[in-house]
Amino acid sequence: MKYRKLGNSELRISEISLGSWGINEGVERQNAEACIYKAFDIGINFIDTSNSYAAGGAESFLGEVLQGIERSSYILATKVFFPTSPSDRGLSAAQIKKQIDASLNRLRTDYVDLYQCHRYDPDTPLEETMTALTEVVRQGKARYIGFSEWSPEQIQSALDIADVERFVSSQPQYSLLWRKPEAEVFPLCAANGIGQIVWSPLAQGVLTGKYQPGQVPLPNSRAANEKMNWYLLEELFSDDTLTAVQKLKPIAQDLKLSMPQLALAWVLGSEYVSSAIIGASRPEQIVDNAAASGVQLDRDVLAAIDQVLISVVRK
Ligand SMILES: NC(=O)c1ccc[n+]([C@@H]2O[C@H](COP(=O)([O-])OP(=O)(O)OC[C@H]3O[C@@H](n4cnc5c(N)ncnc54)[C@H](OP(=O)(O)O)[C@@H]3O)[C@@H](O)[C@H]2O)c1
Repeated sequence: MKYRKLGNSELRISEISLGSWGINEGVERQNAEACIYKAFDIGINFIDTSNSYAAGGAESFLGEVLQGIERSSYILATKVFFPTSPSDRGLSAAQIKKQIDASLNRLRTDYVDLYQCHRYDPDTPLEETMTALTEVVRQGKARYIGFSEWSPEQIQSALDIADVERFVSSQPQYSLLWRKPEAEVFPLCAANGIGQIVWSPLAQGVLTGKYQPGQVPLPNSRAANEKMNWYLLEELFSDDTLTAVQKLKPIAQDLKLSMPQLALAWVLGSEYVSSAIIGASRPEQIVDNAAASGVQLDRDVLAAIDQVLISVVRK
């Protein structure tokens, strides 16, 4: 496993990192636990979660499993914004103060390495949010701050505020099929010391090539899981996309790579990306995916990939 510096922070995170979105909502507990241990075994040192995943259940699970593992040996990121009760949501000072304590309590730790705004909150003045995040860092409850899916204008507005903590990370969706942040978010962030930790780098499993166009998804796959498939089916699951993805198989085979390795190597080929946050429902997937770290795709391969996907890429 190779490691990269996260923006202007002191954090060196593994190129492949592990998300915890599915825990309690599709990934069985036993498998989820095995995934964490396997991830650490093979050098993954960065775990991403949120106070909203499984309504706090993902953080509670991590709190249990990570007990007994030396705290300084892994880097832990969580997020705040989405509702956790009918009256709890957003990025007001009161919410941030309340939610960071609730997250730390569930995670059974004194600090997170990275505290991220899961989305932008249009209902709270940005100065209020930034001041509250700064307080969280100054109290030692988070080492660094980040955001997920903010627009270039929102990012710039935060950068323009004086005397507050600076963001070090951005968490956008990014994959062979979803390239929207390339145009503006990536360069703006790079110019300001903000690294990219990207979500759904396998397009939720579509880029593994396991879904055949026109066929019912395999049982035990995310596409068949009603708790988790809503966004996948809406955005990434058209027959056109699945057909194009099948055409990547000979490219992967020629390189002796698995399909997930090809897709992840492509994401890591971006100079802007610090880590690809994968999901996994079984530990074998982590072993397969982690082998993408260190793989470089040459120019001809990149061109062949683009040729195959040209009509289905979202830019
Ligand atoms: N900031 C945000 O708004 C946001 C949004 C979404 C996610 N995230 C973060 O990003 C993390 C990753 O997202 P994601 O789970 O969508 O990422 P992903 O890596 O694109 O998809 C992961 C899923 O693909 C399947 N898969 C993975 N490796 C495979 C392999 N080798 N062979 C076959 N199938 C494989 C598994 O599902 P099945 O086995 O069930 O098919 C797995 O759960 C989340 O856990 C979360 O931490 C953040």
